[in-house]
Amino acid sequence: MQTQVKSGQIDTGGEDTIIAGCFESESKSNGAPLIPDNKLSGAVAPLLVSGDFSAKLGQAVVLYPQSEFPVRRIILTGLGRKKEITRERIRKAYAHAGKKAKELKIRNLAVLALEGDGLPIKLRESSQALVEGVLLANYKLDRYKTEDADQKDTLQKLTILAGKRKGIPAIEKGLREGEIFSWATNFTRDLANQPSNQLTPTVLGQVAMKIARENKLECQVLGKPQIKKLGMNAFLAVASGSEQPPKLIILDYSPPKQKNTLALVGKGITFDAGGLSLKDTENMLQMKGDMMGGAVVLATMAACAKLQLPLHLVGIIPATENLPSGSAQKVGDIIQSHSGTTIEVLNTDAEGRLILADALSYSRSFKPDAIIDVATLTAAIRIALGSICAGIFSNHRELSNNLIQAGETSGERVWPMPLWDEYRQFLESDLADIKNVGRRWGGAILAAIFLKTFVGNLPWIHIDIAGVDFKDTDIDTDKDYFYWTKGSTGFGARLLLQFLRDWKRMAKRD
Ligand code: BES
Ligand code: MN
Ligand code: ZN
Repeated sequence: MQTQVKSGQIDTGGEDTIIAGCFESESKSNGAPLIPDNKLSGAVAPLLVSGDFSAKLGQAVVLYPQSEFPVRRIILTGLGRKKEITRERIRKAYAHAGKKAKELKIRNLAVLALEGDGLPIKLRESSQALVEGVLLANYKLDRYKTEDADQKDTLQKLTILAGKRKGIPAIEKGLREGEIFSWATNFTRDLANQPSNQLTPTVLGQVAMKIARENKLECQVLGKPQIKKLGMNAFLAVASGSEQPPKLIILDYSPPKQKNTLALVGKGITFDAGGLSLKDTENMLQMKGDMMGGAVVLATMAACAKLQLPLHLVGIIPATENLPSGSAQKVGDIIQSHSGTTIEVLNTDAEGRLILADALSYSRSFKPDAIIDVATLTAAIRIALGSICAGIFSNHRELSNNLIQAGETSGERVWPMPLWDEYRQFLESDLADIKNVGRRWGGAILAAIFLKTFVGNLPWIHIDIAGVDFKDTDIDTDKDYFYWTKGSTGFGARLLLQFLRDWKRMAKRD
């Protein structure tokens, strides 16, 4: 897709469709929205007279100005009150308008930059947010449709119009960041939406190699013999039921002048049938997306390279299927994990924590300053928090506060969950050091307590994204909720990117 910033007003001409954001009136008596450019007043007069549009967030209308006006369509989108504006509200407003553009199959779209006095948000940031809104909303799911898969109908060109020339550099930066952030989310969505017969662990390894090459990351994809050599027996136990060979994907981003090393670990189960503890039909349905944590890690690493963030990142993605078969691991089996800790497997469907146990413990060999793992780990986190935010578990207060902040900024919000020692008793095994499941209650916490065993005392955050992975029944009154589209949400990539970008600022400040 092509993008550009140029100076222009709503009536400069040469544009097919323009999105213009409007604020709600500040005064209660006059409910008319604040139209960004009074040259438009002729075109909007009937709308204002009717009172059909008051610029509340979530309202958007398409206008077809008179023939003398040099633009074919104008999409007015409501931003709500000016003083309440945030990046997330901008994303939502432009996503709403962006979805109108998508419905109308608009290929060439222009957006007026959010300039003007009294805006509590910087031009660069508002530009990034509006680009994210438009690009996330324009995500399409139809790559496997044999008809109508014509890419011609998708957005091809996005132009931001700067009213004042001096704003162009800031808008350009915001545009570039918005593109990279949206790319990371949409790339994650693409991987998580791919069916498991297309995206096997081997294919995921190939995708990682390709992305690494394109973004100048180092990438190694280890096969079964090498995984065995590393002693990752918990990972191999999960893989033993599948005909598809497991892959351990290791990515490295090492720019000059970096100070800190972070390890990012992502769950890469390309299909989770549950193993011998087989899932029922309904619960198995979306398990092609059980590698979304891995996809988030891959997308984040590539995006960090695109943004040239001054951090050393190591990405680790254990990739395998979890299937039942004659060679599958059985309940009651005891395995010795990479760290040496022995695990009694009492439910083969709790496979994510097994592969992560080995990957987390292995990640310590890179001597990271912090470890972050991302995983579609437990259905219980959806029970706890619903599908609006992810749950986080951490042994480090400052680190998790920073992640919460990044969640607020990126709109991919996270909420802290406890890791108290009292929960550990439910994982006591009679035979081994730990068992992989406890009781049903507090299931997301027990999974996190299990993982904690394998990170030692390194600062660590576990992000359970199982509640926010797919956009389906939770908000089903509005299936196309703002910038979320049907299928995978891609949740986590923009969150981590924001977190890592702010890490740079923190390091600088010290
Ligand atoms: N991949 C699932 C968790 C999941 C559930 C992700 C729903 C997305 C949507 C995970 O491997 C799993 O099966 N977890 C079990 C753990 C249980 C056996 C302790 C679960 O949550 O039911
Ligand atoms: Mn499972
Ligand atoms: Zn799983």
